[in-house]
Amino acid sequence: MLDFSTRPDRNWSWPTAIRFGAGRIAELPVALAELGASNPLFVTDAALVSLEPAQRALGVLRDAGVAFGLFSEVHPNPTGAAVDAGVAAFRAGGHDAVIAFGGGSALDAAKAVALMVRQTRPIWDFEDVGDNWTRVDTTDPVPVVAVPTTAGTGSELGRSSIITDTEAGRKMIIFHPIMMPGIAILDPELTVGLPQGLTASTGMDALCHALETFITPNFHPMADGLALQALRMIKEALPRACENGSDLEARADMLVASGMACVALQKGLGGVHALSHALGAVYDLPHGLLNAILLPHVTAENIEHARPRLTELAQLLDLPGRQAESVIAWLEGLRDQLGIPAGLAELGVVAERQDEVIALALKDPCAAANPAPFDAALAQRMLARAMG
Ligand SMILES: [Fe+2]
Repeated sequence: MLDFSTRPDRNWSWPTAIRFGAGRIAELPVALAELGASNPLFVTDAALVSLEPAQRALGVLRDAGVAFGLFSEVHPNPTGAAVDAGVAAFRAGGHDAVIAFGGGSALDAAKAVALMVRQTRPIWDFEDVGDNWTRVDTTDPVPVVAVPTTAGTGSELGRSSIITDTEAGRKMIIFHPIMMPGIAILDPELTVGLPQGLTASTGMDALCHALETFITPNFHPMADGLALQALRMIKEALPRACENGSDLEARADMLVASGMACVALQKGLGGVHALSHALGAVYDLPHGLLNAILLPHVTAENIEHARPRLTELAQLLDLPGRQAESVIAWLEGLRDQLGIPAGLAELGVVAERQDEVIALALKDPCAAANPAPFDAALAQRMLARAMG
């Protein structure tokens, strides 16, 4: 039995009500009751539903005699069609809440299902552009309990979902404040079985959220504080979680840090996410892995526009050399240590489709927050560097 005394159970309101602690998935029925739900729809992804964490959660519901439906038709990079199917399942089963269970794709799809159950407009009308969010019908919102099984996206504490519009061929950020789950259960035991590769790539997504947030020039000291503490925790915990998946303290710290980084990203992200959304739409590749590869290259292209912040970060993290370049060296070293490819070419990304990727990236809402003005020439330089 691991000594877990330094990571005791805690209840936080940040601003989602959070039940943090090992084994707290057992409180899923209590969380549902708190939200007034008696017949939830459990939404998860097709690959996860038969694995231990999902089976454990479903067992908790069965043992407590909770009536529920199961929708497990979510695949990586969820589409509008997947959300429609989930909405149909919700209505057919007369459900009154959603349990969002899994990694980023499952959580995003589940949150979108909960939102869309009460809408008459198509989901694309709520893309996070301008004041589109005010179009949402907020009558009788569907409550959501979110349970992450990866430590990366932080979607369990976020107010948006990334859904792929297959017709337009791009990923859209769907946003409304009511998309924030009512309760999140952060149980590190659910992430213990995550394979090393997924632990690394999802953890690097959280690192990207924190780093892009910390260096984007917008004024948001509260987000800066969250991002910085997340970076400190990830720096220590991610290598440990990758080296020993059963290190419950490292797993716990990664779950908390990824949530913090997600709350912080309301400040704005940048070129890593603008490009990874575009590459994800064109090649249907995993978000975390794309970010992990892009991060050192994009940060290197941004260095002259983010030098004071990167220097501050190098000093606060006590990186060797304590200067902006030290951050790039740390990111490259971490990437190599975690076995992440150095370049996009290894994933099958080709120069021939570069214009397509750049056109999508320029339209991405994250592009505007990049420290250096994000134009086609900069995107091209970033991609060229990241090809490897
Ligand atoms: Fe991300």
